Parts: sequence; C-alpha cells; structure tokens
Amino acid sequence: MELLGGLWLLLLSSASGFGFTWDLRSLRCSFSDVCECHFRPDLDGLGCDLAQNVFGQHLARQLLLKAVSDFVELEEPLKPLVLSFHGWTGTGKTYVSSLLLKHLYLDGGRSPYVHQFSPILHFPHAERIEQYKGDLKRWIQGNLSICARSIFLFDEMDKMHPGLIDVIVPFLGPSWVVYGTNYRKALFLFISNAGGEQINRVTLDFWHARKDREDIELQDLNLAISKAVFDNPHHGFWKSQIIDEQLIDLIVPFLPLQRNHIKQCVRSELKQQGLLPQATLLQSVIDSITYFPEEEQLFSATGCKTVASRINFFL
Ligand SMILES: *[C@@H]1O[C@H](CO)[C@@H](O)[C@H](O)[C@H]1NC(C)=O
Repeated sequence: MELLGGLWLLLLSSASGFGFTWDLRSLRCSFSDVCECHFRPDLDGLGCDLAQNVFGQHLARQLLLKAVSDFVELEEPLKPLVLSFHGWTGTGKTYVSSLLLKHLYLDGGRSPYVHQFSPILHFPHAERIEQYKGDLKRWIQGNLSICARSIFLFDEMDKMHPGLIDVIVPFLGPSWVVYGTNYRKALFLFISNAGGEQINRVTLDFWHARKDREDIELQDLNLAISKAVFDNPHHGFWKSQIIDEQLIDLIVPFLPLQRNHIKQCVRSELKQQGLLPQATLLQSVIDSITYFPEEEQLFSATGCKTVASRINFFL
C-alpha cells in the first residue's frame, strides 16, 4: 500500500509538469480518501474567475477569496464556515456562488456533496414548518455523516419562513461534536437580497461625496445589513439566533451595478456567445435598462440579470 502511495506521488509530481495534474488528482480521488468526497479546492482558479468575470464587486471578490482560502487550508477547522451574501437583484450573488462550487468540488454544483435549498421549492407551506424543521435537521446531519466537507446553500433567505433556519444553529457553532458527527468542515452559504437597499444607499453616498466605490469597506455596511435582515419579519433570519449569536463568519455585500459594469457584462456575454462587441449593440443594451434613483440614474434596476435576453432582443 505504501509502495502504491509512493507511486502515485511520483506519477503526480512527474505528470504535473505536463498539465495532467487535474486528471490524476481526480483519479486519485476515486481511489483513496486523500480528497474528501471530491472536495478539490482550486483557489487560483477561483481567484482568476472572480477577477475576470465578476464586475463591480471588489468587496465580494476580496472577502470571499480570503475567507475560503483560510478555511480550506485548515485540516481541522474549529467551526464550519458560514457565509451570507447580500445585495440588490442581478449583482452576481448566485453567479459567484456557482463559481465557488465550481472551484471547490470536482463536479461543481452537481456534486452529491453540494446541497441547495430554495424556500419555494423545499419549504413552501408555512403550516408545515415543524415538519420542515425535522427534515432539514435530519438532512444536514445525514449528509454530514456521509461527507464532512459538504456545502449547504440556502437561496432566497428573504422568502424563508422565520424560525425554520434556527434548527441548524447547533451545526454552525464551535462546539466539538453534534450527534456524533464532525461538522466543522462544512460550509454554509446563505443568499438574499436583504440589505440591498442599505448597500445601495452607502454606494450612493460615496458617489455623492465623489469617493471611489472601491474604497467602500465592509465596516461601512456590516451593521446596516445585519440590522436589515434581523428586523425584517419576512426574512428567514428575522430575530434569528444565527444573527443574535453572531454565527455568520462573513457578510459578503454585493454593490449595485453602474453603466460601466453593465457594459462589461454585455461584453462578457457577447464573448461567450462568440459575437463581436459592436458599439451600437452595446449602447442599445445599456440604454434599454432602467436606472435608479430617479434623479441620479446611477444603478441598474436589474443589475446584469437581463443582459443575455436583451442582447438576443437587439440582435
Ligand atoms: C442529504 O440532503 C438531501 C437534500 O439535499 C436529502 O434529500 C437527503 O435525504 C440527505 N441525505 C441524508 C443521508 O440525510
């Protein structure tokens, strides 16, 4: 067995120079437990993708890369990593989460160790909340006993019935063991539009003060976002212990997008479709979008969300 291990290492180190590393690593994953359940973090790839394909989000890019790098490099993390994405519609929250999955797991979002929950799909009926609580707790516990490096993604937290999410509180803290499972290697990710208005207001204030939006720091937004979710009776985090006990390691704010970011999105989309960035097409798409606030006409109301369909419309 040791001989075999050594052989693998030899193969790996000699092949890496020829660009075979990826294939060999995935092969190695299926033969040993070196890569826990196809968990294959590629932080360089993540950094590269974030830098090239995510526009106008200096905070999300820097914060996320740092937090994820620090976390995955730990063999024995002291607690799971708990992230919460916030921002206006179309600012890239879902897209960034898909990049994260793509660069953490062998099969990205299709990995059996990636669990995505959407309130409308998984927890639609308010009157069944007690049943959902039991289900959710059992699923997380069950999946973590299969693979400690699982990721649980909760989309549209602002549509989740308040009270449900607190059932996962025991999994988020630093206690040693819950139900006999090591759950400290798990990653929890929450996504919502909540706090978006607060983020927009700070970004607008910076613009009025003629300050660079890239100078916006997390502490300019952190408190306002926490307050916005905790005080919103429609949000899954309403009066939640998760906020109360500060179990979220990092709030990741997504700033509202301006015309120049929309332009970058259009260019990127055209490139993906193999089309040339004609100036008139670019301008038509940019001008067709609604901007706010009414007076300043600064931020795209839909972010980059509708860019692809608008391109098809103008072609
Ligand atoms: C894992 O989670 C999924 C939901 O994503 C659930 O359907 C499944 O039953 C869970 N597995 C276990 C072993 O609990």
